[in-house]
Amino acid sequence: MILVTGATGSIGKHLVQQLQQLQVPFKALVRDAGKGRMLGCPYVVGDFDDPESIDAALTAVDQVLLNGAGAVPTADGAEQPMVAQQKAAIDAAVRAGVAKMVKISVWRAHQGGRLAEGAHWDIEQHLKASGIEWALLQPSGFMQNFITGAGTFSDDGSLIAPAVDAPVSYIDCYDIAACAAALLTEPSGSGRSFVLTGPEALTMAEIAGQLSSALAKPVDVVGLSSDDMAARLQAQGVPAQFALDVAHLWADVGTGSLAATTPEVKNLTGREPRTFAEFLAANRAAFR
Ligand SMILES: NC(=O)c1ccc[n+]([C@@H]2O[C@H](COP(=O)([O-])OP(=O)(O)OC[C@H]3O[C@@H](n4cnc5c(N)ncnc54)[C@H](OP(=O)(O)O)[C@@H]3O)[C@@H](O)[C@H]2O)c1
Repeated sequence: MILVTGATGSIGKHLVQQLQQLQVPFKALVRDAGKGRMLGCPYVVGDFDDPESIDAALTAVDQVLLNGAGAVPTADGAEQPMVAQQKAAIDAAVRAGVAKMVKISVWRAHQGGRLAEGAHWDIEQHLKASGIEWALLQPSGFMQNFITGAGTFSDDGSLIAPAVDAPVSYIDCYDIAACAAALLTEPSGSGRSFVLTGPEALTMAEIAGQLSSALAKPVDVVGLSSDDMAARLQAQGVPAQFALDVAHLWADVGTGSLAATTPEVKNLTGREPRTFAEFLAANRAAFR
């Protein structure tokens, strides 16, 4: 039995559908029963911040997809909540006798990294030391960020970002889910980390061009300096250190740090990852 955490999110929604198609036994962890019913699959209600609910959810589970919220604004110097949440879930999985855990991490996770990059690295080390069989998925930026907004759209619908000229190998969460499904249902891949990217690296101008065609209306790109980005976030009430960390991460993207592509989606699933055009075609309703 597989437990899918983060089941209502950008990756989880695809994963539950793909596991249903594969007809393997699984249950989704949801915080809200209404969202669980909407998924249309077996679910259990639980919250990473409620350890007893995680212990209960792990009953009769032998494989886990570990996924939750990304980096959130915290008081300066405070640890990202995902670190304590996911470490506790790993400890609960050890107690429950879980055999294998596949964790959604982030590309360039490293010790002392800012926001998600450092937080995921901490969790990765905890999982590696747990004794549970593990596999790590380290994706590039999500194409779904252009549906959720994720800090890239202004009020008038323009794309705003510091690194407008830097290509990024965005990946569709559909493909991340397919990689997770492969690792959860086949014996291969244990003890390995997989950097997942889309098939091409696109600049913001190229993304805007494709969005303009798909939406049949112009989408402009507004470039900001990293400092302007930090100031803008702070003006919106975001804590100063969080705003600076976001700006630094964008400055790093501006050096081309997320431009490479890898063959891992094809290696794990047997097919090429979706292009941005294919992602747009598959999500027309969301963009309307
Ligand atoms: N966005 C990117 O470009 C990107 C790139 C690389 C890696 N990542 C990583 O990918 C992961 C997913 O990020 P995302 O922003 O795309 O997430 P998301 O789609 O918003 O999904 C987050 C999921 O976690 C669940 N969740 C949140 N808090 C929880 C809690 N306390 N207990 C149980 N479940 C909880 C949410 O459930 P509810 O429906 O109840 O809220 C939701 O199902 C993050 O770890 C992020 O660092 C993101």
